[in-house]
Amino acid sequence: MKDVLDLELQLFLRSLLPEEDAVLQEMRSYAEEHHIPVVDPEVGHLLHLLTGLIQPQSILEIGTAIGCSTLAMANAMETGSITTIELTEERHTMALGYFKRAGVADRIHAVLGDARELVPQLDRQYDMIFMDAAKGQYQEFLDIADRILKPGGLLVADNVLLNGWVVNLNYPRHRQKTMVYRMKAFLEQFKENTQYQCSVVPLGDGVALIRKHREKSEA
Ligand SMILES: C[S@@+](CC[C@H](N)C(=O)[O-])C[C@H]1O[C@@H](n2cnc3c(N)ncnc32)[C@H](O)[C@@H]1O
Repeated sequence: MKDVLDLELQLFLRSLLPEEDAVLQEMRSYAEEHHIPVVDPEVGHLLHLLTGLIQPQSILEIGTAIGCSTLAMANAMETGSITTIELTEERHTMALGYFKRAGVADRIHAVLGDARELVPQLDRQYDMIFMDAAKGQYQEFLDIADRILKPGGLLVADNVLLNGWVVNLNYPRHRQKTMVYRMKAFLEQFKENTQYQCSVVPLGDGVALIRKHREKSEA
């Protein structure tokens, strides 16, 4: 449970955001009604800002759900395309409909399937990767995505603080233990990982911004 100050801060930060477009608002309502986890508005806004800033030509998203984060990024792209992978057919189909309605379908290649099988088959490189699927599998996703993230590219990982459990290890259920310890190890590796530079932004549920160095020697 987030404490009062955290909630006050979150509401304040949210109050500073511009209103989202109509399709995105409708997607959020649908997601809330059907208990589908989607990116927090402040994290969606950060993704939009980063995409606008970097202007990636190619983005890979792992975990589409119904496409809120995909749309946040697509809305900031002037050119280029997004490949987004989702495991659940119902969510994938919903996302396709929303992309059409938002007028961005021609820029988005939505794929139905398991990213653990599909990512190793991808044969192009990406400027930016947004990782937002199973939280216990981030290390596995990084291992398979490393090959296709361009040198100098940005990997964004959402929910890395897992409700704060990664900080205080105060997870409520024993079955969450593996996921929490895996995430902690995932974040800690960047202290010594010479291939990547990572900064964790405590926005929403925690966002890791992970940049791949251009050359092995770059520090
Ligand atoms: C947090 S939701 C994604 C939310 C979405 N990025 C957004 O903000 O709108 C995580 C999604 O990842 C999907 N997922 C989980 N494991 C996956 C895998 N191995 N391959 C592809 N998708 C996966 C889940 O079905 C779920 O819809």
